[in-house]
This record gives sequence, C-alpha cells and structure tokens, in this order.
Amino acid sequence: MIETCTVADLERLELDLLLDAVKTRYGYDFHDYAKASMIRRVKKYMEQAGISHISELIPLFLHDNRAFYRFVKSLSVVVTEMFRDPDVFKTLREEVIPVLKTYPFIKIWHAGCASGQEVYSMAIMLEEEGILDRCQIYATDFNDDALKLAKKGIYPAEDIELYENNYSLSGGKNKLSDYWVSLYDSIKVNSRLSERVTFANHNLVTDGVFGEMHLVMCRNVLIYFNEQLQDRALTLINDSLCPRGFLCIGRRENLKFSQIRNHLEDVSNRFRIYRKLSS
Ligand SMILES: C[S@@+](CC[C@H](N)C(=O)[O-])C[C@H]1O[C@@H](n2cnc3c(N)ncnc32)[C@H](O)[C@@H]1O
Repeated sequence: MIETCTVADLERLELDLLLDAVKTRYGYDFHDYAKASMIRRVKKYMEQAGISHISELIPLFLHDNRAFYRFVKSLSVVVTEMFRDPDVFKTLREEVIPVLKTYPFIKIWHAGCASGQEVYSMAIMLEEEGILDRCQIYATDFNDDALKLAKKGIYPAEDIELYENNYSLSGGKNKLSDYWVSLYDSIKVNSRLSERVTFANHNLVTDGVFGEMHLVMCRNVLIYFNEQLQDRALTLINDSLCPRGFLCIGRRENLKFSQIRNHLEDVSNRFRIYRKLSS
C-alpha cells in the first residue's frame, strides 16, 4: 500500500482503472496511448461534462455507451490539410511516383485519413502523373464522423488559400481550383477524385493487416501512441506492404522505436519516406 500519493499518482491510477473498465466493457484498448496527451484529453472531456475526478467516468462509461463514444471521438484529433508538408508531397512526386508508374496496378493505403484532405491531395497528384486510373486508394480511420466528412469531400472555403499555397509548393502542375467546385462558403472536390477511393473504418490498435500495399501513408497518427503501440502499428503496416513497398510517416514521427526499422531503407529520412527491403 502506498502511504502518500500525489495528485498525479492518483490521476494515473484512476486513468488505468478507467482504461481497464473501457477495455472490458467495449474492447477498446487505450492503455498504450501516450499518457500525457490522454490525460489532457480526458480532462477536457471532464470539463465539458462537469466531472471533477477521472474515476467518475468509470460508472458513466459503463452505463452510458453514448457518453463513451463521445469520449472516443474526443480522443481523435482530426487536424489535417491538403498537401500538408508540401515538401513531403514533392518528394513523393519525384522519388516514389516514378516507381509506382512502372506497375500495372497500384494499391495505396492512407491509415488515419481524418477528414480526407490528404487522400484527395494524393488523388490529385496521381491524376497529374497520369496513373490515377490504375490506382486503388484505401482511406481508413477509427473515427466514423471523420470518415463521413472525408467521403463528402466538402471543406471550408476559408482554407483555400492555405491549400493553394501548399499545392504550389508541392510541385502541383495545374490550378488547384481545377479539382473542386465552389459552393456558397465551401468547396466540394470533384467526384472524379473519389472514384478510386474506398473509405472504411479501421483501428490501428485492434484491427488486422490491410493487403499488399505499394504505398502506405500513416502521418501524424503515431504521435498519439506510446513506443509499444507505435511498434505494433508499424509492424501491422509493414506486414501490409508488398515487397519494395513504400511507407511515409509524419515529419515529427520516427521509426526508432520499431523493429521494422531493419526491414526498411531510406528514400528520404528527412521527409520520413522509406522503402521495404525485398526480404
Ligand atoms: C492528426 S490526424 C492525421 C490526418 C492525416 N493523416 C494528416 O497527417 O494530415 C490523426 C488521425 O488519426 C486517427 N487515429 C487515431 N488513433 C487511431 C487508431 N487507433 N486507428 C486509426 N486511426 C486513428 C484520428 O481519428 C485522426 O483522424
């Protein structure tokens, strides 16, 4: 028994008990999410729900599944943008697409696609490089609300300037406005771009491998996981890549916690693009 317990110790204990209860009741295992960011999100949720102790969430989530699913959504940070990190897209265009062009059929997976801007950026680039018709793109997330937005492909017009700037820095060949129609205060991406995309729910923590991909984009998702979970997700992704397939992770992420590092060579470590070794 611990005689003295700091507030932080208590919070961690309460959080562990809460995550045990959630795992038993719903099968979601959040134990390996990065603790500091998890506590921040739990506290934000508590503030909105007018709750003062983490342990009070245990009976709430056990008995009220709608409250629990609201919590799951609050864990999902869906911040994204078109051609985010334009120099990464530029490197994909220059180093990866030329290899993909040599294949008769190309499978690409965006894991953690959020509201879809990254997927449509990829589709635009593939269209400009003349290979969109040969591609099947899978776009997955564990947040159904984000997937609904992604499927619609409707985004606020106020983001256009940022998107256009990113597109031009990424080596875009046309005008970005060629790829959408303007609605009143929003834009809708051309349906031509979504024709080759399948949106689906997939959880990188609990679900399995996603067939023989030539390129996997998993950017800005791993940062929410602890080292063990990053390794699990990266192993799943590596197992989903075909031999000589490519992997692109986020600029602030890295492979150093993962066993798969030895199975990948650098295309550009600076831009976090890697290629699977043949064996
Ligand atoms: C910050 S967004 C990244 C979006 C996009 N990849 C980008 O870089 O712009 C992170 C996304 O990861 C998703 N995510 C978090 N945990 C996940 C999990 N266990 N399985 C699948 N997706 C997850 C979130 O729902 C969110 O949409």
